Amino acid sequence: MQNNNKSLVSSSQLTSTSELEEYFVIADKLQNQLKKSLRDKIIACVFYEPSTRTRFSFEAAAIKLGAQVISSENAKVSSSSSKGESIEDTIRVMNNYADAIVMRHFENGICAKAAKISSVPIINAGDGSNEHPTQAILDVYSIKKRFGKVDGLRVALVGDLLYGRTVHSLVFLLSLYKDIKLNFISPAKLKMPPEFKKILQERAIDFVEQEDLIDLLPEIDVLYMTRIQRERFGSEEEYLRFANSYCIDKASVDLMKQDAIIMHPLPRVNEISPDIDDDKRAYYFQQAKNGLYIRMAVLQKAITDKTQTTAY
Ligand code: NCD
Repeated sequence: MQNNNKSLVSSSQLTSTSELEEYFVIADKLQNQLKKSLRDKIIACVFYEPSTRTRFSFEAAAIKLGAQVISSENAKVSSSSSKGESIEDTIRVMNNYADAIVMRHFENGICAKAAKISSVPIINAGDGSNEHPTQAILDVYSIKKRFGKVDGLRVALVGDLLYGRTVHSLVFLLSLYKDIKLNFISPAKLKMPPEFKKILQERAIDFVEQEDLIDLLPEIDVLYMTRIQRERFGSEEEYLRFANSYCIDKASVDLMKQDAIIMHPLPRVNEISPDIDDDKRAYYFQQAKNGLYIRMAVLQKAITDKTQTTAY
């Protein structure tokens, strides 16, 4: 990477709770006092895959901090990649126009590749089925906001754990906490990939893999639902085999602890019935709101913090 050690391409770059929670402190501060710390800066949002929350929250975050935004919401079609331009060339050119590049792409690992040649920070807003680090930061921030702690909680990650990039990034961050207990609930064909479980084994974190969710519901503090992602499967037939594997409704919520929370990175399809949206345990819309403050913190830290050094 040229002159740039501030890209955020993987949650694994954050190796301690203090490093992670620095984002929480900045997010809390920015929420209460809007500092135009990025005035005169330009943020590029280059999205090769669909997005609602991630792109809009990054753009809103940039604007709230006083920056200007240049954006491609459908870069797969509307950028020169459709003419065959390499990501390296795109990044080299974008480096002349922007102070940070927020990128979502369909290819695993491409943000790390971009960060190696970029002279401005690359922020991974989701690379294929690999990672989505800023989502994971806002997820842990949301958990800590509700419980006042993360240590000791039992967290169930449910759904498509094979292709779900949010849960991959979340595993890295949760593994930084003490006595965290993890349950991975998925169809046998959609289990958490070994490379993400390896970090848990190395850090001696308890995790259990299972297909059934119902029996576990009374034990869980955080129920983290994910979408079965149609776009990641080879065929519609294969997708339909797994679609609707898990659906949380009123009856399932009745089995949960009173102070548990239900999270989801969104968009939901059928994983969570709208009937429970008013339940005090439904936390997914607040979670999405917290994303704005975390993305303000991510941009501010990437662009203005001279001291941060990361693995990339
Ligand atoms: C997720 C994503 O894009 O990985 N959404 C998000 O960023 N909030 C999850 C999903 O698309 O299912």
